[in-house]
Amino acid sequence: MAKRGSSIIKGIQASEVVELLNKAYADEWLAYYQYFIEAKVIKGIMKDAIFAELTQHANDELRHADMLANRIIQLGGTPLLHPQEWFTQSSCGYKEPQSFDVVAILKDSIQGEQCAISVYSSLADTFKDKDIIYYGQALMISQILADEVEHEEDLQDLHDDITEFVTQIKSTMG
Ligand SMILES: [Fe+2]
Ligand SMILES: [Fe+2]
Repeated sequence: MAKRGSSIIKGIQASEVVELLNKAYADEWLAYYQYFIEAKVIKGIMKDAIFAELTQHANDELRHADMLANRIIQLGGTPLLHPQEWFTQSSCGYKEPQSFDVVAILKDSIQGEQCAISVYSSLADTFKDKDIIYYGQALMISQILADEVEHEEDLQDLHDDITEFVTQIKSTMG
């Protein structure tokens, strides 16, 4: 990015922006892998529907990582170069699946999305009114935020369907 452009991001240094975006970038890679591996190991009822949802989320997180990397480069920064930095820079961390059961996997993922939502909400606040020339950045953050909100809703719906189904089966059998 041109020097003048970088200096015009009002009230916040381009280097600070890069740092914040790199943290989100780390989160996205970890979220991508979490969905990727969950889709592989998941077991239990409605497995196929959940597999499809997890796979779609994995693709979305990878797309978010791509958007963030492009923006970081545009700002004259460098996206994190080593996967080790994903752990040191991440705000939401990584939740290794302890159980492969559908409900446990959904709960882990819902937690992850709730963290992502709070990260992007606070990023949206940070950039509000500051990115006067690069309006596109605020737009990018709100697009990602909207995806994370949708992810959480979709997972919660699946979680509720399954728990309701299990309760019905139990009452029928009981
Ligand atoms: Fe994401
Ligand atoms: Fe997400």
